[in-house]
Amino acid sequence: MTEIENMMIAIKAESAKIDLAMHNDLDSLKPGLDPLLSEILDYGLFNGGKRIRPLLAVLSARLCGSTDDSVYELAKAFEYLHAATLFHDDVIDNADTRRGRPAVNKQFGLISAILAGDFLHARSMEIVGNMVGAEGLAVFCQATAGMVDGEFMQLRNAAQSNLSESDYYDAIIGKTGLLIAASCHVGALYGGGSTEQQQALRSYGVGLGCAFQMVDDLLDYTGDQLKTGKAVGNDLAEGKMTLPLIITLARADDQDRLQLEDILASPELRQTEIRIVMEHINKYRGFDETRARAVKAANEASAQLSMFTDSTVSESKVTLQVLAQYVLSRQK
Ligand code: IPE
Ligand code: IPE
Ligand code: MG
Ligand code: MG
Repeated sequence: MTEIENMMIAIKAESAKIDLAMHNDLDSLKPGLDPLLSEILDYGLFNGGKRIRPLLAVLSARLCGSTDDSVYELAKAFEYLHAATLFHDDVIDNADTRRGRPAVNKQFGLISAILAGDFLHARSMEIVGNMVGAEGLAVFCQATAGMVDGEFMQLRNAAQSNLSESDYYDAIIGKTGLLIAASCHVGALYGGGSTEQQQALRSYGVGLGCAFQMVDDLLDYTGDQLKTGKAVGNDLAEGKMTLPLIITLARADDQDRLQLEDILASPELRQTEIRIVMEHINKYRGFDETRARAVKAANEASAQLSMFTDSTVSESKVTLQVLAQYVLSRQK
C-alpha cells in the first residue's frame, strides 16, 4: 500500500470521530433549532466532504502534545466554518452542484443558504471561544475577515486579463489559505504548542492552503465532475482569473491573447468556449506550470515541520507531510 493509501485509512478513522462530534453537537442543539435549519445542516454537512480542515486542527494539536479526544470537539468548529463558507461561496459563484448534489442554495434557496451559513459561523466562533479563549478566537476571526477580503479581491479581479500572479496569490491566501492556516494555528494553541510551533504550523497551513487552491483551480478545468462533485468550467463561466489562465495570458502571442480577451469579456463566450480556452492553456503549458507552483508550495509547507523532532508525535508529523503530497494528487 502507498503512503497516501495508508494515510487515507487513518484519515477515515479520524473523520468518523469528527463527524460524531458534529452529530452529537447538532443533536444537542436541535430542540432549539428551526426544523428547516436542522434539515439544511444535515444536508450540507454530512455529504462526503473531505474534512481536511478539522483533521488539520487535530493533527496540529497532537503534534504539540494534545492526547485526548476533546480535540474533536474543537475540530468540528473548522468544518462548521468551512461549510458556512461553502454555503455562501455557492451563492457568490452561482454554483449548481456541491459534493455531488444540488448546492444548498439550489436545494433550499438563497436565503436559507445565507442564514444556515450564518448559523454555522456563529456556532463555530462560540466553540473556539469556549475551548481556546480570546487568543484562538482572534486567529479564527482574522481568518474569516481574510476570507471576506479574498472574495472581494476575486470580485475585483474578475475577467481582468492583465492580472499578475501576485494578485492571484493574495486572493487565494485570503479565501483559502487563512482558514487552513487558522485550523493548524488554533490546533497548535489548543495543544499547548510554543509560539514557534504555532507559527511553524501556521506557515505549513498557508502553504498547504495555496497548494490546495491551485489544485482546485486545475480541477475546475481538468477534473472529473463525478469525482470532484462540482461542475467543471464554473471558474471560467464566472470570469474567475485563476493561475492556469493568468500564466497563459502572460505567455500568449498577440493573436491568442486577443482571442482569450474576447472570450473573457463575454459572459456568453465564457460558457461556450471553454474548449478553445483549454487549448490555449495547454499550448502555453498553463496547467503544467500551475501544477509546478502547487508542488513548490506543498514542499515548502512540509519543510515548515522540520522543527518537530519529538519521536512520540512522529505519526502526526508524517501524516501532515503525506497530506501535503495528497493535495497534489487529489482528484476530489
Ligand atoms: C472546497 O474545499 C473549497 C476550496 C477551498 C477549494 P474542499 O475541497 O476541502 O471541500 P470539501 O469539504 O472536501 O467538500
Ligand atoms: C474556494 O474557492 C474558497 C471558499 C470556499 C471560500 P472556490 O470557489 O474555487 O471553491 P469551490 O471550487 O467552489 O469549492
Ligand atoms: Mg466556488
Ligand atoms: Mg474552485
